[in-house]
Amino acid sequence: MLCNQSMDQPVLHRLITADEIALIIKKLGDQISRDYSGKELILVCILKGAFMFLSDLIRHLPMPVKIDFVRLASYGAGTKTSGWVEITKDIETPIEGKDVLIIEDIVDSGRTLQFLKERLELSHPRSVKICTLLDKKARREVNIDADYVGKEIGNVFVVGYGIDFNESYRNLPEIYYVAPSQNDQP
Ligand code: IMP
Ligand code: MG
Repeated sequence: MLCNQSMDQPVLHRLITADEIALIIKKLGDQISRDYSGKELILVCILKGAFMFLSDLIRHLPMPVKIDFVRLASYGAGTKTSGWVEITKDIETPIEGKDVLIIEDIVDSGRTLQFLKERLELSHPRSVKICTLLDKKARREVNIDADYVGKEIGNVFVVGYGIDFNESYRNLPEIYYVAPSQNDQP
């Protein structure tokens, strides 16, 4: 446990250690390196949550790599996504005819990725695949799957390693889940 329990400082429980994150990323790096051997890859990182994941993952990729960033606003209150997605910062790299790999922190309902994948496909890349650090597979609301999944997790709200709760906790080197407050209990 990290903090005392209140709305401002929720109780955090460690879910994934820094060592485990490093192992997960090494494994993903090896898979991606094998699959894209001899190719050039454009990594499209979804801001802000995936910035730390991207920075560690690219160190395991030996092929020529370009990176770009997209920022998506998805409307919803608190810890819930509504499915209404808007691009607030677009990529700047031409992707026509290129192999693109979307780098995401967490797939939840899948709506963010469905929107982004369809949007990128309009530019006629050779391929668009998805790499996510975490996958809440049981919460999927649309038919989309990541091609590379670091770790599947249950229905918990997580923070740390780039992932936020109200813009806080991105700096934590490990991943924690937020314990539900007494008020959230059924
Ligand atoms: P989706 O569109 O429902 O798949 O939502 C995915 C986005 O919701 C992720 O990119 C995260 O920004 C955010 N998200 C989903 N689950 C969590 C969580 O447990 N902690 C923090 N952000 C989350
Ligand atoms: Mg995100």
